[in-house]
Amino acid sequence: MLETMRWADHQLILLDQTKLPGEVCYFTCTNYQDVVDAIKRLVVRGAPAIGAAAAYGMVLAAWSGSQKDSAAFHEELGHAARELAASRPTAVNLFWALDRMKQRINPAQAPAMIYQTLLEEAHGILREDLILNQKMGRLGQELIPQAGSILTHCNAGALATGGYGTALGVIRAAHEAGKKVQVFADETRPLLQGARLTAFELMEENIPVTLITDSMAGSVMQKGWVDLVLVGADRITANGDVANKIGTYSLAVLAHAHGIPFYVAAPVSTFDLTLAAGEDIPIEERSPEEVRNIFGFQSAPLDVPVFNPAFDVTPHHLISAIITEKGIIHHPDQEIIKKIIL
Ligand code: MRU
Repeated sequence: MLETMRWADHQLILLDQTKLPGEVCYFTCTNYQDVVDAIKRLVVRGAPAIGAAAAYGMVLAAWSGSQKDSAAFHEELGHAARELAASRPTAVNLFWALDRMKQRINPAQAPAMIYQTLLEEAHGILREDLILNQKMGRLGQELIPQAGSILTHCNAGALATGGYGTALGVIRAAHEAGKKVQVFADETRPLLQGARLTAFELMEENIPVTLITDSMAGSVMQKGWVDLVLVGADRITANGDVANKIGTYSLAVLAHAHGIPFYVAAPVSTFDLTLAAGEDIPIEERSPEEVRNIFGFQSAPLDVPVFNPAFDVTPHHLISAIITEKGIIHHPDQEIIKKIIL
């Protein structure tokens, strides 16, 4: 599988996900502003991957600032932390990773030492994500039948993480355990992460996948072709409400109407226990051009008003279980979430 990101020679090399699957090319970040730009443009995307990229953004700021005096160095780190935090608002892993990096800054240390500490921390964030995704996969695959058809949305795979994936990690683990899984991948308008990335990832792994447009999900459920829905998450509140890619809520309602289990797979770093419920989650709104155009082709009147939220919120009562690296949270609510993740 292609690597989402790599650190080499004081640069962050990102697989450019805006170009997949047609082209495999890389975007090189030499300063933190490049990382901010890459996160905003979805060169790197998916909650855990955004967090890891932001961590490396702090390392780049430390590298460029390390030639300056101590006050200018810390000012540079402060700017970087603020600009990275403002790049995308919904995935809490971004803020989690930045907090983790900030905690490692010891003002008593020399800039070169702080740079080294931050680099090790960023490597740790990326490495740990892969390991906990594999753990989540092992735990979560218990929920997948011996022969099962799974519907997924957006891309919660290796490309969205430090490797292996969250929702796709569970599917990978079931496949590796010898289960006969087959996947319906929602195309995921407007930016087609399902078509471009999930279909690509699953085909690379020889996991049977059928691509459908978002509006076909109800129909395939009605035909009895879906055993369960499995998606990732960008932020989960204390009561178990889940923000994920726009269209996820509709799938949860459809799954409920058809009596199909609806599962979410996400690491503990995706939980935000400071927010009581889903309505508190900041939802990113993206450019109207993403809806008026399909990859450069005008598909709507130039000036038609557009509503383009990147995420929606699925209330916890529609969620059968949340799969984490610390265990499976069945029928999530505040009490059981605290018991499992704290
Ligand atoms: O806008 P994106 O592509 O960053 O949205 C990604 C998703 O919604 C994923 O499902 C979520 O981040 C989980 S990734 C493991």
